[in-house]
Amino acid sequence: MSRDLDIVRSVAELRARVRYWRDQGLTIGMVPTMGALHQGHLSLVVKALEHADRVVTSVFVNPTQFGPNEDFSRYPRQEARDAELLEGAGCHLLFAPTVAEMYPDGFATSISVSGVSEGLCGDVRPGHFSGVATVVTKLLLQCLPDVAVFGEKDYQQLAVIRRFTRDLDIPVAILGAPTLREADGLAMSSRNAYLSAGDRAVAPALLRALTGIADGLRSGARASDLCPRAVGELLKAGFASVDYVEVRDADTLTPAETAERPVRILAAARLGATRLIDNIGCGG
Ligand code: PAF
Repeated sequence: MSRDLDIVRSVAELRARVRYWRDQGLTIGMVPTMGALHQGHLSLVVKALEHADRVVTSVFVNPTQFGPNEDFSRYPRQEARDAELLEGAGCHLLFAPTVAEMYPDGFATSISVSGVSEGLCGDVRPGHFSGVATVVTKLLLQCLPDVAVFGEKDYQQLAVIRRFTRDLDIPVAILGAPTLREADGLAMSSRNAYLSAGDRAVAPALLRALTGIADGLRSGARASDLCPRAVGELLKAGFASVDYVEVRDADTLTPAETAERPVRILAAARLGATRLIDNIGCGG
């Protein structure tokens, strides 16, 4: 366990620390995570440090955003390592609440966001974005940071968070940070640890499929031709199944056929029991 990075587990302790900083006139950044941290998460901490004097990272594996057949129980939990990495990145405080602290007996509220939560991962993981919106609302209200940073790797999640913070007048600036990738292009993700050696070798085909669509859009082809072709390529490369490959407007996430306006090309596909997601921008 890291000795220097302070860890608090209750909302009261978190608020006391934030109040202490506020009394000194300092600004606060927050990086919500589920732990099992990698360089991608640490880049969010670095971005938060560019925008705030003190940075709080939360590590909470949120049960309400996992479906009944998903990986909640086996999601990697490694707090001591996470704390060391956070300390090295310059984070000032780790907030690691228990499930009982976040969802005490009688908890009965959930935030649901229509529009941007629908389609893509929202269709494949019913209830997921409501779980995310509820826990992120709680974290933001518990900490009341000036800025909060989320990765663009979870692009739909970022759109959902931007939507409800605006709709609910939560006084925080939401910042997106670019996806960090391994040398072969695979987007960094805590779930990459689940991949067998064979599946890991297949995984970079996901980014290749996305860049192929971007090239196609740039040369005037249409999404409705390019996306089904990319699905076929992913299956041929060795993916067990493909949840979706779609082109969406970068702001509204409504379906797009061309890249005349900025679009996001998004995909989710399964390798064994592991579901990988990725997305890239194009056009505009
Ligand atoms: O992206 C994640 O790690 C989680 O969905 C988040 C935003 C921390 C909410 O649990």
